[in-house]
Amino acid sequence: MKKKIIALGALVVVLAVIIFLVTGRGGSDTLKIATIMSTSGPVSHFGSQCRAAIQMAVDEFNARGGVLGKQVELLVEDDEKNPEKTMNALVKLVTKDKVKVVLGALTSDCTLAITQEAQRRGILLFTPTSTNDMVTDAGDLIFRSCFKDSFQGEVMAQFAVESLNATKAAVLYDMNNDYSTGLTKSFEETFEAFGGTVVASESYAGGDKDFNAQITKIKAADPDVLFLPDYYNTVSLIMNQVRNQGLDAIMLGPDGWDEVVGQAGEEAVGNYFCNHYSPDAEDDDVQVFVRKYRERFGITPNALAALGYDAAYIVLEAIERAGTDDPQVLKEALMATNKKYVTGHITFDANHNPVKSTTILKVVQGEDGKLATEYVGMVDPE
Ligand code: PHE
Repeated sequence: MKKKIIALGALVVVLAVIIFLVTGRGGSDTLKIATIMSTSGPVSHFGSQCRAAIQMAVDEFNARGGVLGKQVELLVEDDEKNPEKTMNALVKLVTKDKVKVVLGALTSDCTLAITQEAQRRGILLFTPTSTNDMVTDAGDLIFRSCFKDSFQGEVMAQFAVESLNATKAAVLYDMNNDYSTGLTKSFEETFEAFGGTVVASESYAGGDKDFNAQITKIKAADPDVLFLPDYYNTVSLIMNQVRNQGLDAIMLGPDGWDEVVGQAGEEAVGNYFCNHYSPDAEDDDVQVFVRKYRERFGITPNALAALGYDAAYIVLEAIERAGTDDPQVLKEALMATNKKYVTGHITFDANHNPVKSTTILKVVQGEDGKLATEYVGMVDPE
């Protein structure tokens, strides 16, 4: 008899565990949101900072009592900047973890790999950082908190013509990467529209390490400026080979250059890129964020961190306003966003893209001999 009771008791426990696992309901009543970030792989300096800042934002909400009366639980997946892994992560988060809101992915190629699937599954996908123009095309559930590549390409081309008096430009880009090809198109079109000539347009394949053949051709075309639309790791290699060949064109780049000051050598000095914010900006929101992030992580936050922090705030505040994380309701609350955040004042246009400005930065040698960025100016969208 005693044995039977114990067996029955064990059965009840097993059933309770199964019900808990299947329904996802149990004692823990949290609001789950997820992020897919490239915290390892070639842009890990980006992903780890973006993830850290998202966690910091979530912790701030939790310290104030959470969202909709619940503590926020952040689930994290690493895609290693591999679009296939981004898709696997999305499917896992949606089917196993039953998440309805995902912050990610980081790079445009990874985000573009999942936008249609997220829209089809009714998931609200909010990328802090993916700038390729087509990212939000998949539907009304896809948002971002950064500007678009057509904007950064235009800004840098116009800057080359108007501020650097460039008449001849060259471009060296990754032909297999949506981010790099999209930026190339907008830079080249704008440079020519402003009366300049694109004298060389050379490409490579992602993962290449030797760019000398392309640089030889570019040098022969004698450009005033060389546009390098790629991420810090590749750009650092290219800059080094450019200067080793004695090509002295001023190099220009997009947001992917963030972290170049930590990775490149002297060859980066004197070049310009545009970015989502400057940690040196005299702006209260920026300075409070920079101080908190430094206190917690011991480093100055890069643009990815600022964008991740903003994305988490924009989404969690919209969930509070909506009273739910149901994507169909949440999307309306997001569209009503109208507030200043760390990377600027955010409102969304009809395609869920924020209307915001960009900051042009120059790479300089700091007094301590280390590379640093110097604020050049802000450009607003038209
Ligand atoms: N905009 C880049 C992309 O779409 C990612 C990035 C964001 C890089 C911000 C640097 C700073 O792939």
